[in-house]
Amino acid sequence: MSASSVEAPSFPVRRSCPYQPPDVYREISTRGPINQVTLWDDRRVWLITGYAEARRLLADERLSSDRSYDAYPTMAPHLGAPAARKLVLVGEDPPVHHHHRRLLNPEFSLKHARALRPDIERIVNGLIDRIEELGSPADLVEHFAAPIPSLVMSALLGIPYEDHAFFQTATAGVMQGRDPEHTEASAAELVRYLDRLVTAQERKPDENLVGRLVAHVESGELTHDEVVQLAMVLLIAGLETTSSMIPISVLALLEHPEQLAALRDGVVPAAIAIEELLRITAVTDFAGVRWITDDIEIDGLVLKAGDGLVVSSTMTNRDDRVHAEPYEVDLARASRQHLTFGYGIHQCLGQNLARLQLEIAFETLVRRLPGLRLAVPSEELVMRRTGTMQSVERLPVAW
Ligand code: HEM
Repeated sequence: MSASSVEAPSFPVRRSCPYQPPDVYREISTRGPINQVTLWDDRRVWLITGYAEARRLLADERLSSDRSYDAYPTMAPHLGAPAARKLVLVGEDPPVHHHHRRLLNPEFSLKHARALRPDIERIVNGLIDRIEELGSPADLVEHFAAPIPSLVMSALLGIPYEDHAFFQTATAGVMQGRDPEHTEASAAELVRYLDRLVTAQERKPDENLVGRLVAHVESGELTHDEVVQLAMVLLIAGLETTSSMIPISVLALLEHPEQLAALRDGVVPAAIAIEELLRITAVTDFAGVRWITDDIEIDGLVLKAGDGLVVSSTMTNRDDRVHAEPYEVDLARASRQHLTFGYGIHQCLGQNLARLQLEIAFETLVRRLPGLRLAVPSEELVMRRTGTMQSVERLPVAW
């Protein structure tokens, strides 16, 4: 990237409010939709904060997700670990990406997700039953936010839920590793575990996603190792995202009692409300991290081949050319114009499933625990953010 005298602030910056961006992000985005920022390793990259610009760029074939190139920007030290740099699907470009996505798309269709509704309702109600048994106060992360995606993903993939302590810790270790060694070791443990599982499915396939994927090994469309890697990426992508979003959204609702009441009283249906929660929380903070393979001209700028690029979902979701009062939480906004699930060929594969889990989780939570409130002063909550995910360690609630 050419040397520029324009100031390039450090990025990313820890949020102080669990769901609103740090002030410096707001300041950067008032300068324009495309700016430069400086990463932890002193590298300058383009930061996209405009919604239209982000969609244009994320649909551009001159952007690559291939992390095996040095040009791919590493957003935190642990993400430089070899395992994090060779993730299938999310870290692939066409045609390989297209091949993998084509095999998975039918599994994550709206129809497939909808068929899971009764199972997810049973899971969520069972967790609230347990919370009621435990009595007030209870930690909503441990007893609600973490087990929902964990139970759903283990049923979907055919992974024994008894192993949840292991796979939750290991996936968190990859996403939020303390350092590259921690990320590498967590990924290696997951690969060993999933390798055994895939081998068992190859011998005797069950009616689950891994069982169906191994059929593609027989037909020569996938290798054994690709199935292992795909299962790992699905687990990583499907657990931390949903489990982090739930407590952060609950905090946003508790700080906006009139919005919580609108959800609880059915004034805004949960299916509508979650779109605003997705927009405002932007739990991954980024809608995509890429590098540029050929010069791109946009808005009078030239993004040069080899430059890194980061799309901020937190800020594109608050583009005032798209949303009036973009920092306000308004569950009735009824807009899907957010980039929390990304955009373009890598747009979240699991978004139908994520939406369904969130809809059922929030509808059930406010209906069954109508007096929901924080059980500790908000200053005591510990925000966790190492790298890319916004989350809170514990969320003690009373009702
Ligand atoms: C609130 C929950 C979720 C959020 C905020 C979220 C966010 C995202 C984002 C921003 C991307 C795009 C990354 C990029 O372009 O580089 C993505 C991709 C992906 N997500 Fe999600 N996700 C969520 C839930 C899920 C679930 C439940 C699953 C699986 C069941 C899943 C599986 C994936 C996969 C496999 C990709 C890679 C797709 C590709 O590269 O083609 N996600 N997600």
